[in-house]
Amino acid sequence: MDFSNFSDISPAHNEFRSDTFTTPTLSMISSLTKATLGDSVYNEDDSTIELEKKVADMTGKEAGLFCVSGTLSNQICLRVNLKQPPYSILCDYRAHVYVHEAGGMATLSQAMAQPIKPKNGIYLTLEDDILPNFIPDDGEIHGAPTKLISLENTLHGMLFPIEEIAKISEFCSNNDVKLHLDGARLWNASAATGISLKEYCSYFDSVSLCLSKTLGAPIGTVLVADKDFVKKANHFKKQNGGGIRQSGLLATMAITAIDENFGKLQRTHEMAQELGNLCKENGIALEHPVETNFVFIDFPKNKMSSDVLIKLLKENDIKLYASRVAFHYQISDESFEKCKRVVLECYKDAQKNPYTGKSYSAYYLSK
Ligand SMILES: Cc1ncc(COP(=O)(O)O)c(C=O)c1O
Repeated sequence: MDFSNFSDISPAHNEFRSDTFTTPTLSMISSLTKATLGDSVYNEDDSTIELEKKVADMTGKEAGLFCVSGTLSNQICLRVNLKQPPYSILCDYRAHVYVHEAGGMATLSQAMAQPIKPKNGIYLTLEDDILPNFIPDDGEIHGAPTKLISLENTLHGMLFPIEEIAKISEFCSNNDVKLHLDGARLWNASAATGISLKEYCSYFDSVSLCLSKTLGAPIGTVLVADKDFVKKANHFKKQNGGGIRQSGLLATMAITAIDENFGKLQRTHEMAQELGNLCKENGIALEHPVETNFVFIDFPKNKMSSDVLIKLLKENDIKLYASRVAFHYQISDESFEKCKRVVLECYKDAQKNPYTGKSYSAYYLSK
């Protein structure tokens, strides 16, 4: 392959649909020449071992396990945390593990889901959300005891306060309940708050950290936990078809992504904040506060139309889902300007022609 014309501007420069759309950089591809080519199913690949150790060290956990996706990593973490059904997993009603992982909780873990709508609209609290819904393992045989709580940080770009995590963690330790974190974007939480990955992870039995969103690696997630947990998780990974042979190629690109891009997240948060402020100044309602790299625009409340949005997106050559605007480190300044313009114009149109019909499924917009 000839990389002499490799552009610094990524094809993802106009992609606001998700922070998963980033493309590998020349330095990620160049790093492949250093990758080892062992078989990671036999635990014989040095680059994969290096990645797993790196993320385990960064998070203060004993061991790490490289998985192809956040879904696989989350679901095997849930499974390893649980032993013998019947039991329940308590989580936010918007949690990725519950809503977007193809029912994995029900199939792999045979668990009852306890999806809870937080009273404060943002994050679960021990007092208001967990205690009133907690099902104790007290011999009462009609219920399925809560044996695992799964939190997500960030969730829809929102931060989970560390004080509340500490309270929930203490409750779990005292009540024989395991605590998992879907930390797909824990990198963003840490960049936004200055709280180290280690401190966040110290409260959890298992944590799943994605590399293919926000940080920009082409593939992968690392789960971290203690050694015995990771050994068992590796068994479930294999069972679910997740064994990767020469994974050193992917692991090496992921290492480069961590080294080069963790420090770039701040700028993505600033862009999101700037768009959020622009919306506020212009009276455009948001679904919830902007705290990291996402802005969620309340389309129904603003009476904005998906049709008008699609037209504006095409005219301006940018892509986004209706309500969600995602920022990543490859968004160009020019595309960011266009994005702000599109949002403002769509809202102005809504003031002249308020739209009260059903919004399109955001998923299909601007494909
Ligand atoms: C919060 C969260 N957790 C987990 C995942 C799953 O990651 P993957 O798409 O790699 O399966 C995603 C994917 O977008 C996510 O946003």
